[in-house]
Amino acid sequence: MRNRYEEAFQKAADKYCRGARIAAREGIIPYKSEKGAWIPSPFDGNGWWTGGFYPAILWQIYAADKPEWCLIEARRAESLLTEEFRIFSHLNHDVGFMYLLSCGADHKLTGDKQAALDTLHAASLLMGRFNPAGYIRAWNQPAQAGFAIIDCMMNLSLLYWASRKTGDPRFAHAADVHAHTALREFLRPDGSVSHIIEFDPETGARVREHPGQGYALGSQWSRGQAWGLYGFTLAYLNTEKPEYLDAAKRIAANFMAHIRPDGLTDCDFCQPDTEERIDNIAGAIAACGLMELEKATGDEAYRNAALRLVDGLLEHCCDWTDQRLGVLTHCTASYHDDGAGRHTNIVYGDYFLMEALAKLNGTDLMPWL
Ligand code: GLY
Repeated sequence: MRNRYEEAFQKAADKYCRGARIAAREGIIPYKSEKGAWIPSPFDGNGWWTGGFYPAILWQIYAADKPEWCLIEARRAESLLTEEFRIFSHLNHDVGFMYLLSCGADHKLTGDKQAALDTLHAASLLMGRFNPAGYIRAWNQPAQAGFAIIDCMMNLSLLYWASRKTGDPRFAHAADVHAHTALREFLRPDGSVSHIIEFDPETGARVREHPGQGYALGSQWSRGQAWGLYGFTLAYLNTEKPEYLDAAKRIAANFMAHIRPDGLTDCDFCQPDTEERIDNIAGAIAACGLMELEKATGDEAYRNAALRLVDGLLEHCCDWTDQRLGVLTHCTASYHDDGAGRHTNIVYGDYFLMEALAKLNGTDLMPWL
């Protein structure tokens, strides 16, 4: 008999099987589900940072069960993603999310050589964003040459992967320089992290913090906290450097202190009490990071916190009907920008829910390493 996590993973896989037929027919990479339809990214189309999560979901299903349709559909999405190499102009530091989770996962599971080259191509693009003054540049606008963001801790895995793959330590050196800057400049004394820090691109000196996608300057955007938690955990798993583990533990302690009694996650841990604004993506990411932290430390408190988060999502915020194509509800792209999605379904929420379930079921392909 299946346990509740195996059952949830299977129901999500069945739903994605139905949804994949629609995405393939429309020739799109889904970004979110609305009124029973898939919406491609309204921002930069297939070049938007979220493009890798749909094939990543399919590779998690493939890792569990090997259904052929997943491989075919993931490769269709990958061919759209690799076309973006030629367009190039809107690719940014999120090539880690985009290509490690798609082509990198493909190579890990199937040994496909072109998928490895495409992943290496993405790593080279990320290397090209490294400023030796101390950080990886986040975005492309000329006025943002000095911007680095906490989310980038997740993209560092692509660089560590490339050093292992090629035997060339340059990629890992750049990742470590960025991670040490993040330790120094993003991690706050209370274990929370800033979203955006602007540096002087000539000297690397700190200029200022920006509020980013959170509630306010100095507040705690919960998805940023989750990126920091899982990102430093991954940096530790990639390098075994104790300072990264220490940072992950500090961020985890702060995150765990803010898990709501119902297991859901507020969009910002400093948002006003009167505001009911949830971002379940943050909870799903944190659950993944906490489970990896439990494996790294043997401390069961991390796994128990992860279970509170996953149980909360399964109990309150999974839609198994066909009224929408995705699964996880109450995902919020950004605290103040409702245009990008508030209390909706967004594909990366589904990805991290699936990864968390796969970890609990022992089938996780662990595409980050
Ligand atoms: N990495 C962008 C976001 O979390 O919205």
